Amino acid sequence: MTDILELLKSRRSVPARMMTGPGPTPAEMDTLLTIATRVPDHGKLTPWRFVIFEGEARVAAGAIIERLHVAKNPDADAERRAQERERLTRAPTVIAVVSTAAPHPKIPEWEQQLSAGAVCTLLMVAAGGMGFAVNWLTEWYSYDPEFRAAIGLAEHERIAGFMHLGHAAEKPADRPRPALADLVTRWSA
Ligand SMILES: Cc1cc2nc3c(=O)[nH]c(=O)nc-3n(C[C@H](O)[C@H](O)[C@H](O)COP(=O)(O)O)c2cc1C
Repeated sequence: MTDILELLKSRRSVPARMMTGPGPTPAEMDTLLTIATRVPDHGKLTPWRFVIFEGEARVAAGAIIERLHVAKNPDADAERRAQERERLTRAPTVIAVVSTAAPHPKIPEWEQQLSAGAVCTLLMVAAGGMGFAVNWLTEWYSYDPEFRAAIGLAEHERIAGFMHLGHAAEKPADRPRPALADLVTRWSA
């Protein structure tokens, strides 16, 4: 097992277009989602769920994305259409983390949405620890009501992330990280 602190200190996204197979086996998927759901969750509401895209289902979902893009952009050329069609086939496995946040008498929706973000983060870290390349993407179709409905989301549900999982021959070079000095203050009266 990778040392947890070393993993966290070196975590880096791998662009989905650099990914190859395989994705997680069913047993690995169980491990991954069991870890991802072990997040802080105010009120124990479980305000999130998962939709997994594997194999031909990715192709079918890509065809919907292409159709919706062309409906809004009738002049889209073949290259652009292919880019849209291939959105969910870049990686062998894509897990949509869905926020099911809804009004609640005690727990603000904001906190429920934060919990869905925490699920994405934990899933990403766990997948990295299991040796997978990961990319957390939303892209335009996450915000498209027709696409959300087509993949079975209710009106109030939102995509927290399409988590792309696969393998990559190499990790891309790191990007500049924020300087803590610019972010941290110590409050005093
Ligand atoms: C909620 C969320 C949505 C994101 N959506 C996209 C996206 O649609 N396209 C993209 O290029 N990066 C997106 N990113 C950023 C990448 O996941 C990633 O953080 C970025 O490429 C930097 O890489 P790093 O994780 O190694 O810092 C998103 C990040 C978050 C938190």
